[in-house]
Amino acid sequence: MVFGGRSPENIHFHDLHICDTWVQNNQLLHGKSEGTDPSDVPSVASQKDMKQQAFWNPSNYHWQSKGNVKASGVEDMVLLPKIQEASIVENLKKRYMDDLIFTYIGPVLISVNPFKQMPYFTEKEIDMYQGAASYENPPHIYALTDNMYRNMLIDQENQCVIISGESGAGKTVCAKFIMNYLAKVSGGGPSVQKIKDVILESNPLLEAFGNAKTVRNNNSSRFGKYVEIQFTKGGQPDGGKISNFLLEKSRVVSQNPSERNFHVFYQLIMGATSEEKGEFGLTEPSYYYYLNQSGTYSVDGTDDVKDYEETRRAMEVIGISDYDQVSVLQIVAGVLHLGNISFVEQGNYAVPNDDECMYLIQ
Ligand SMILES: Nc1ncnc2c1ncn2[C@@H]1O[C@H](COP(=O)(O)OP(=O)(O)O)[C@@H](O)[C@H]1O
Ligand SMILES: [Mg+2]
Repeated sequence: MVFGGRSPENIHFHDLHICDTWVQNNQLLHGKSEGTDPSDVPSVASQKDMKQQAFWNPSNYHWQSKGNVKASGVEDMVLLPKIQEASIVENLKKRYMDDLIFTYIGPVLISVNPFKQMPYFTEKEIDMYQGAASYENPPHIYALTDNMYRNMLIDQENQCVIISGESGAGKTVCAKFIMNYLAKVSGGGPSVQKIKDVILESNPLLEAFGNAKTVRNNNSSRFGKYVEIQFTKGGQPDGGKISNFLLEKSRVVSQNPSERNFHVFYQLIMGATSEEKGEFGLTEPSYYYYLNQSGTYSVDGTDDVKDYEETRRAMEVIGISDYDQVSVLQIVAGVLHLGNISFVEQGNYAVPNDDECMYLIQ
């Protein structure tokens, strides 16, 4: 992401590396890999003990936090006595067991996907990290973002965060935390709020058309995007630009078992009003070849009906007219119908496979 003026020179980089839970003996300790040896996983009781110890021991609190913020392991791994992979992993693990997902290595922030809601992303943390030096508070994505925002204001230089990590590691979620934090701290009146709304609402819209369930991530971004937010000299957002690249187009026509097509198809089928369904000629997802190949229609924790409403709201906020919204959805429905047309070779020609295909073409 680039924050700042329009020229690409003088970009200051910030790194965020994201780990996908625990890798121990090449196996995931928590999570999705098969064949994890249960003896590697601390029992629930021992995890609880570890947490309680961390909770009761006063030395486990952050040195500046007046006794209300936990600390465990080292917060910046340049302080480790031996900098080796084993000690880095050990430290990350210790902190993860105490529900601390962020750790620094110097200026780089490491984040471990907790796969559950952590309590430290509230207004309180936004206040706490605003304007604070990074050593004053526990490591946090807000600290990195705040540092970047202040650098932009003080040095008048573009800022950029590089977020890297394997699929499902939490990159997209972190990018959203960054955007939300910037929206919260950058102030401004109603006209600035309008720009912030457009920037924030671009996420659900892009995700509807560019994200899908994969075996590794229920909300996997299947496209690349480069988001630029432009700020005034005073630090208020006054515009933005999103460049999209590399959409995984092949997913539209075929999906692997346990994966899904792009969210928007299911959102439209599940969420459209009966009028809309009639107008677009929509029926059950299992009727469409582009949706029935993988045998997966729903995703745990995803409500396609609610998400359809959110996609429509995002279109509204971004300023897509009602007429254009309907046109876009017509195209989405059209793609589903097209998928049901197949051809066979007859003589030297391709002809529709059966009467139904013939009907769809007409
Ligand atoms: N900080 C977090 N807190 C809670 N859940 C998270 C967090 N980061 C990631 N997740 C969970 O992991 C899933 C995958 O994360 P995501 O950011 O989409 O991965 P990536 O973009 O790296 O492929 C998310 O849908 C969410 O359920
Ligand atoms: Mg992603």
